[in-house]
Order: sequence, then C-alpha cells, then structure tokens
Amino acid sequence: MSQTLIAPSILAADFGNLQRDVEMINNSEADWFHLDVMDGVFVPNISFGMPVIKSISLHAKKPLDVHLMIVEPDRYIKAFAKLGANVLTVHYEACTHLHRTLQAIKAEGMQAGVALNPHTNISFLEDTINDIDLVCIMSVNPGFGGQSFIENTYYKVKQLKKLLLEKGASTKIEIDGGVTNKNAQQLIDVGADVLVAGSYVFGSENPSETIKVLKELV
Ligand code: DX5
Ligand code: ZN
Repeated sequence: MSQTLIAPSILAADFGNLQRDVEMINNSEADWFHLDVMDGVFVPNISFGMPVIKSISLHAKKPLDVHLMIVEPDRYIKAFAKLGANVLTVHYEACTHLHRTLQAIKAEGMQAGVALNPHTNISFLEDTINDIDLVCIMSVNPGFGGQSFIENTYYKVKQLKKLLLEKGASTKIEIDGGVTNKNAQQLIDVGADVLVAGSYVFGSENPSETIKVLKELV
C-alpha cells in the first residue's frame, strides 16, 4: 500500500446526504477530508462555509484539509482553527504578505499550506518553502470540480521536488484537480504525497472502493 495520502474532496459529495458521505470517508482507506471554500471573488464560484464545515467536523474522524480559495484569508484563520482545520491552505495569489500569513496559521496550531494556480511558477516559493508544510499544486483552474487535468502539472511537481531537495525542506506535495486512475500513478512517481480527488471518487459506483484503488497505487 502506498504512503501517498488520499484526500477525497467533499465538493463532489451529495450535500443532501452529507453525513452519509462523511461516514463513507471515515470507513474508507482515505487519509484526509479535503474541504474547498470558495468566495465568489477569488474564484468564480461559491461553495460552502463555516456552518457546513462545523457539521462535517462533528462527524469526521480524519484530519480536515481546508483549501481556501478566498481573498484576504488572514481574516478567517482563527475561525478555521476553531472549526477544527488541521491543514489550512491559502492561495499564493491571494496573499500580499504570505510569510506573515503562514506564521499566523502555525500560531493557531495548524499546518500551513500554500496553493499555486496553474500559471504560478514554483520559483515564487523559493523564499518561503522552509515555512510551508504543504504545497498544493492546482492541476485545474480553481473554482470547480470535474475539470480535466492539466498535463504541465507533472513538470511542476518535478520542479517543486527539486526545490525541496535544494532547501532541505520536508514540505508535502499535494495535487488538486482532475485526479483519476489515469494520472495518479504518474503523479506518485514524480513525487506527489497527497492526492485530492472529488468527482473521480464521488462519481464512481463505489466511492469507497475507488479510494482503495488510489490507495493501493505504489
Ligand atoms: C477545485 C477544487 C478541488 C476540486 C477537485 O477548485 O480545489 O479540490 O474539488 O475536484 P475534482 O477531483 O473533481 O477535479
Ligand atoms: Zn481543493
């Protein structure tokens, strides 16, 4: 079984049966819950916010990986810590003072993540990488589930892996968007540590089995 962590994205769950889908993840081989928060400003879509995350956290038995696709994320760091977020990821493109934001996330006892849009070069993280617990490489343009995987992602994972080696950083590499059985193995081969999967998991006939298939890749 692979060391790669699998983080099903709740964005693709059935919101009318949220507790059922949360229990499915609890009972599966998944490692984390991936929770996408969209504000309709940073991305052209609105997903869900605090009350929904609160309900999920009451039932979730695995770490909450919260991906903020919002402007001014600093305003909500304390609120997400209170809701039980374990990893809090902000977008590089949404942070004027990224270093300060990372410190603020860690001060609340969470792991600090930085997500990069497909157009954002890995080199922009050179000066902060040792302060980052997780880099989320967006393999689609953020805002929607069910989009197709951008092939340039493999190149970015390799670039990031190189940077981590150069800097002696133990930062996790997460891939988010369009992950399926068609690209998961190659992503693991180039260095991915965490795979987020939304529609591939929840759109399948047996989501728990699909998680197992991803988890069994080495
Ligand atoms: C996209 C979100 C993703 C999304 C992935 O903006 O950040 O986490 O839920 O969904 P799939 O796996 O369907 O591309
Ligand atoms: Zn996400």
